[in-house]
Amino acid sequence: MDQVLTEKRELLLKLRKASEIGGGDARIKKQHEQNKYTARERIDRLVDPGSFLEFDRFVISKGSTLSKESFLGDGVVTGIATINGQKVALYSQDFTVMGGSLGAAHAKKICKIMDFALENRIPIIGINDSGGARIQEGVEALAGYGEIFYRNVKCSGVIPQISLIMGPCAGGAVYSPALTDFIFMVDKTSYMFVTGPDVIKTVTHEDVTKDQLGGAGTHAEKSGVAQFKCTNEDECFERVRELLAYIPSANYTKNPVKYTSDPVYRDNNKIKETVPANPKKPYDMKEVIFDIVDDGEFLEVHKDYAKNIIVGFASIGGIKIGIVANQPAVLAGVLDIDSSEKAARFVRFCDAFDMPILTLVDVPGFLPGTVQEYGGIIKHGSKLLYAYCEATVPLISVTTRKSYGGAYLVMASKHIRTDVNLAYPTAEIAVMGAEGAINIIYRHELEGLTGKAFEDKKAELIAKYEHEFANPYRAAELGFMDAVILPEETRRRVYEYLVALKSKKQEKPKRKHGNIQL
Ligand code: HXC
Repeated sequence: MDQVLTEKRELLLKLRKASEIGGGDARIKKQHEQNKYTARERIDRLVDPGSFLEFDRFVISKGSTLSKESFLGDGVVTGIATINGQKVALYSQDFTVMGGSLGAAHAKKICKIMDFALENRIPIIGINDSGGARIQEGVEALAGYGEIFYRNVKCSGVIPQISLIMGPCAGGAVYSPALTDFIFMVDKTSYMFVTGPDVIKTVTHEDVTKDQLGGAGTHAEKSGVAQFKCTNEDECFERVRELLAYIPSANYTKNPVKYTSDPVYRDNNKIKETVPANPKKPYDMKEVIFDIVDDGEFLEVHKDYAKNIIVGFASIGGIKIGIVANQPAVLAGVLDIDSSEKAARFVRFCDAFDMPILTLVDVPGFLPGTVQEYGGIIKHGSKLLYAYCEATVPLISVTTRKSYGGAYLVMASKHIRTDVNLAYPTAEIAVMGAEGAINIIYRHELEGLTGKAFEDKKAELIAKYEHEFANPYRAAELGFMDAVILPEETRRRVYEYLVALKSKKQEKPKRKHGNIQL
């Protein structure tokens, strides 16, 4: 081979090799010692084998040249790949290069791959492991974050955006993941906060560790910032692949049917006995979900946060859906600030990406008390109402048991345009539960009674109220419930309605955007 040609080929191979090693062996060793993979190892473990096509591996930081010692790639690996055969774009910050800090060139690479994802309508996945804005690059680093934030918002509702936090993510840097649809965090090795423990100590004199302040547990359980908490990085990649198997590549893009061998027309025998008639008796709504969906597979989102409501993805007869369900086993399934926000955000995701929503209703109302009122349950509760009212995707609800008052309206009622409302014979649709109601409407009949006479009268009035109101038939008479079904019929009936609603089209009046209570 021609000498010049050989040298040119060798230079390319040498540069390729140099770009593979990031910040060098010592820093890679340190990364591994902290139970963290490197940026490239993460991509390899996440995507389909051999599918990664890298962009910009020879980009270097501002002011450097290829001939001087510089880190090829500028601390971030970007490219496209497939996951479960579905195309995705991704970036992975390399902590071994200047702590994965974000400078102008690093930011430009991220922006380029985000633009690619948006123009090609494929999901964007960001793997975050960074010391934040690169201090040496000053305002140019800040400008880089601004460009990313702008793109996050531009992509919102057009392509799914997924953030994996696999190391530090601090200061203003947290706002890029915060603008995305799903945040995954790894227990013990990742953290997110706006100001770190040292600043907090100075300003408020509080002592708090990094993990207590912004670890995976904190954000998955307390703040609700993270939707998924994983025990290690491998579990995190598995969960991301699972999530991508449910959601479409972009809005207005067909979501392929999920393969299942689970017969649609099987009876839901397990849940026949699950839902008790007594409205005060707790039961686990997840048992109902597992029995209805294909193969008992349900990917729960926000599993550890606001557990009184359940949200997540599943399929029925292969049709991929979002599920929102009150959880009577936690706080009686009451709606409060956190559960309203959690469900509202999920409903909006499903609506933006054309995923039908199945709502399972068993709700006693909104949580009373000063904590809730002072915290703004009025505005937070309205978010869920707004999200359902705004949704134009197929909406199906199944009321398993109680559904009272304002919460009845909010939880996908007919009045806010749910397409199909189903109820079990145990459903009770009323302004409030029997105990509360008789104390108001039969106050005079109970006045002056004591002891056994009072108890007997009360029992008689409760029975009267339950006979009249605590059933699904009043609502069915008025067409507010389209059908009363047996629990064992749930799977087949929901599937049939999902098929019937496949080509649903609902027009909304033209407007720039609504003004959801934020
Ligand atoms: C440049 C940085 C850096 C940064 C870390 N490094 N952060 N270089 N800019 N922001 C470099 C270190 O110099 C070091 O280089 C290497 O990364 C690894 O850092 P270590 O400190 O050795 O690692 P560790 O002990 O694990 O600590 C990690 C860390 C710490 C907690 C992230 O490095 C740290 O506190 N960094 C500063 C974080 C910060 O304040 N960032 C700005 C946040 S404000 P060598 O050469 O030794 O390997 C922000 C604003 C964004 O980001 C605003 C958006 C609007």
